[in-house]
Amino acid sequence: MRMIRSTSVGEPQTLIIHTPAKLNLYLNILGKRADGFHDLETMMVSVRLFDTIRFESSTAANIELRCRSRIASTITLPTDRRNLIIKAAEILRTETGSNFGATLFLEKRIPSEAGMGGGSSDAAATLVGLNLLWKLNLSPEKLHQLAAQLGSDVNFFLDSAPASLCTGRGEKTEPICLSQPMHFVIVKPPSGLSTKAVFEIWAEEKSSFTMPLSSVQNVLQSGRPTEIQKILQNSLEQPARCLNVDVDRLLRVLAKQDVLGFAMTGSGSACFAMCRSHLHARTIANRLKALRLGEVFVVAAGV
Ligand code: C5P
Repeated sequence: MRMIRSTSVGEPQTLIIHTPAKLNLYLNILGKRADGFHDLETMMVSVRLFDTIRFESSTAANIELRCRSRIASTITLPTDRRNLIIKAAEILRTETGSNFGATLFLEKRIPSEAGMGGGSSDAAATLVGLNLLWKLNLSPEKLHQLAAQLGSDVNFFLDSAPASLCTGRGEKTEPICLSQPMHFVIVKPPSGLSTKAVFEIWAEEKSSFTMPLSSVQNVLQSGRPTEIQKILQNSLEQPARCLNVDVDRLLRVLAKQDVLGFAMTGSGSACFAMCRSHLHARTIANRLKALRLGEVFVVAAGV
């Protein structure tokens, strides 16, 4: 995440955070756990598509969230406790026994119900932003503990790493470097998918892969085009195809494109194609836009 701070005397203190989306380049579900979650191993990269949150300190004790959508597909977001931003703010107050207030302005560019981590990214930015704005001085370790309580992907965004190997239910992160930029086209179909529902369908088929995470990392870092499609795999792809015909259609179209590889991200419904360069990504994006499969984004990672 990228942060801009304003500390002018007399004004309410403000902080602006640009917080990214993610793609799961590899996602392997290992099995269901006693707590109802699933153990998994995944390689996530953060991509240059950002939500923006402006934090303003307030003398009142309430936390107010205002949202503005910058994309067509975003459903109306709740601004109460159903929004992870409010949950993140409340968890900080409970943890520190404080009663600070703030107004948060969210500009939404990351589509919802897409598997792109928008809500988790916003929650991570809120933990970081309010920890600074309210001068709580919580350590990175404590913020990680709170992040894990908010959702399985929040820890990834807290690290601000270009890429991570994530295990456990997704909350155990091992940041890694990317040796070169990567270029993607993302398509978000008009319909979204519920993460919970997709995991439930997975439990019926239980498809897993056997590739070690280190091989995934090696292939990505070597950038060998012929091998990349082998690692772009997602255990949740088949379940999502069963639940959502848009995802099935989109993946069939991506299979016919001249790209390095393609897959669904997270629990969908967005899917992505990996391209050779920014220019190549723009060419593919124009072709996909003409097919009207959903909203199309050209993004880079690792730059
Ligand atoms: O952690 P998060 O809030 O993103 O998870 C949403 C839902 O997805 C969970 O309630 C659970 O049903 C499912 N999930 C899971 N195993 C994971 C991550 C998510 O079963 N590792």
